Amino acid sequence: MNYYEFIAEIKKLCDIDLSNYKEKQMKRRIDSLIKRHGYESYDSYLRQLIKSEQHLKEFLGYITINVSEFFRNPAQWQVLEQEIIPELISKKNTLKIWSSACSTGEEPYSLAMLLDKMGLINRVNIIASDIDKEAVEQAKIGVYTSKSISNVPDEMVKTNFLKENDNYVIKDKIKKAVDFKIINLLEDSFPSNCDLILCRNVMIYFTEEAKEKLYKKFYNALSDNGIFFVGSTEQIIMPQKYGFISRKHFFYQKNN
Ligand SMILES: C[S@@+](CC[C@H](N)C(=O)[O-])C[C@H]1O[C@@H](n2cnc3c(N)ncnc32)[C@H](O)[C@@H]1O
Repeated sequence: MNYYEFIAEIKKLCDIDLSNYKEKQMKRRIDSLIKRHGYESYDSYLRQLIKSEQHLKEFLGYITINVSEFFRNPAQWQVLEQEIIPELISKKNTLKIWSSACSTGEEPYSLAMLLDKMGLINRVNIIASDIDKEAVEQAKIGVYTSKSISNVPDEMVKTNFLKENDNYVIKDKIKKAVDFKIINLLEDSFPSNCDLILCRNVMIYFTEEAKEKLYKKFYNALSDNGIFFVGSTEQIIMPQKYGFISRKHFFYQKNN
């Protein structure tokens, strides 16, 4: 069995189409995992994945790469706080915000904490989703290490977390503001009428064709003049091709 046959079997097994992910990078990751576990071929590893739910979970966790942190790239969060959110909220009573690859929750909880600080928590609906069920379960629990909160200002740590031994537990007020879901960006339908969508540090794993498809889906998921916020290595090459105007680095506006 070669790589292509292996990913076709993975699609059947768990409905994740790895042909949408950059091949070189994905193959390297899978090959190194297989080697680490001492399997000799894709066939023998696949047999193990079919047999053992535990192995399948580990495989999915590994290929989805859940690394995240609160207020990742702080300068961009400042733009969000000082320009983007004030402008959006000046035109609407309530905002619908979607963190579309939320991993273990750092990104949507950063949003909730920021909006709480701005006195707007009761005027927003935050949806957070990811393909990875385990990550979303962890997000719902909301327990973090000191490393993941290193960008959170002390004042915000005090107001939004409870310290339990070496961990930081997100408070209920913030937890309640986020509605978690499982959404596979490549297969599932998107929420509609979003005023702000975050899609950060996931597009880098996708092929050009998959990205094109997704930009169109995100455009359609936005409300008029809605904002699309991307990761720091994920600038859109020709935003106008997808109906976006570049507002600031990493922020695009739906051009109606
Ligand atoms: C590196 S994390 C990014 C987390 C967060 N957005 C940030 O910037 O810190 C990438 C996330 O994308 C998710 N992901 C990968 N493929 C996906 C897909 N097809 N649909 C939805 N989420 C996906 C992974 O499960 C992972 O949690």
